Amino acid sequence: MEKRILITGGAGFIGSHVIRNFIKKYPNYLIVNFDKLTYAGNLENLVDIEAADNYDFIKGDITDINLVKKVFEKYKFDSVIHLAAESHVDRSILDPLEFVQTNIIGTANLLNAAKESWANDFEGKLFYHVSTDEVFGSLSKTGFFTEKTSYDPRSPYSASKAGSDHLVRAYFHTYSMPTIISNCSNNYGPNQFPEKLIPLAINNIVNKKQIPIYGKGDNVRDWLYVLDHANAIEMLFHKGEAGETYNIGGDNEWTNLDLIRNLCQILDDKLNREKGESEKLITFVKDREGHDLRYAIDFSKINKQFDWKPSLDFKTGLENTVDWYLTNKKWLENVVSGDYLNFYKKQYDKR
Ligand code: NAD
Ligand code: TYD
Repeated sequence: MEKRILITGGAGFIGSHVIRNFIKKYPNYLIVNFDKLTYAGNLENLVDIEAADNYDFIKGDITDINLVKKVFEKYKFDSVIHLAAESHVDRSILDPLEFVQTNIIGTANLLNAAKESWANDFEGKLFYHVSTDEVFGSLSKTGFFTEKTSYDPRSPYSASKAGSDHLVRAYFHTYSMPTIISNCSNNYGPNQFPEKLIPLAINNIVNKKQIPIYGKGDNVRDWLYVLDHANAIEMLFHKGEAGETYNIGGDNEWTNLDLIRNLCQILDDKLNREKGESEKLITFVKDREGHDLRYAIDFSKINKQFDWKPSLDFKTGLENTVDWYLTNKKWLENVVSGDYLNFYKKQYDKR
């Protein structure tokens, strides 16, 4: 095998698209998916590639240092693409310690296992860490996050991701381990767990349930289609420079309210409902604690260096996403049971 890559969190939303990309394009790379299969990890996301000759799956927790070490010993990886994380801001407000464990301790374990396995010989090695723009904090109505923006995380989720980014930077500066970090804006698309705004709204609209909008709905996010993110990761994995960080964004800012109105129109059309019917489900609820007002990414660095830009316009991306959820009703039914119902009750009842 030309490369032996450990991908963590490959059963999650973004990870499953990254894995599919690599499996299909690089039959000479061995891809090992290491995933705890938390509520957010779902092997149904990978059914089409699970039998591939260059793919292995290991169920495991990145906080389990002995298991992580054993896996490095067995496979002798030359690269890591680290996506495993607790990823939902609202859950981080309810249970911050789980985020510290997985996102900070888990990342430290992986970095150290890689360093030991590579015995400080870093020729041909790479630790690629997938992170978020939320580490930069919150913007007012103007301005953009660049790679030089100071870190200013404000939720337990973003603070734990910032902590993990700092550890990755420390391994580059202290031990000269080749690392790359990318900080990406909000992703949307197929396979996203319906706790995040877009799939939650799609599920609720389909089932004629209220769509909870925090505060006045004037918070702004920059949305990127998940396959564009997966392609950017694949590109930076091959072309990025060790020790560098790269911002990835969609150039696609929407207030939450405008975004949901768009989604309602798309679903009215596709479900043959009367124009304006789904919008009636919009319900303004108590704001998120510490709710960041606006995220916006300046991705001119990867645009100039690698000619990267998002490939899909938002309308097409949203339509594809809605079509995927309408076609994959069983996937959705399977994930909105059990734990999801408990979380939903805790998060939204009496809000
Ligand atoms: P997700 O919640 O859909 O998936 C996370 C995956 O990690 C799941 O498969 C889960 O089982 C696994 N996991 C969680 N804890 C683990 C542990 N202790 N050990 C092993 N596996 C574990 O997340 P996502 O949206 O696909 O995000 C993936 C990565 O991208 C995360 O690092 C996230 O911070 C980052 N990111 C996400 C977005 C976004 O909009 N979703 C944007 C930028 C960056
Ligand atoms: P989310 O999808 O949780 O992503 P993040 O918090 O990481 O940006 O939320 C996107 C935006 O939507 C954010 O401003 C919070 C808001 N939101 C709601 O208004 N209602 C909801 O039920 C959820 C989940 C999010």
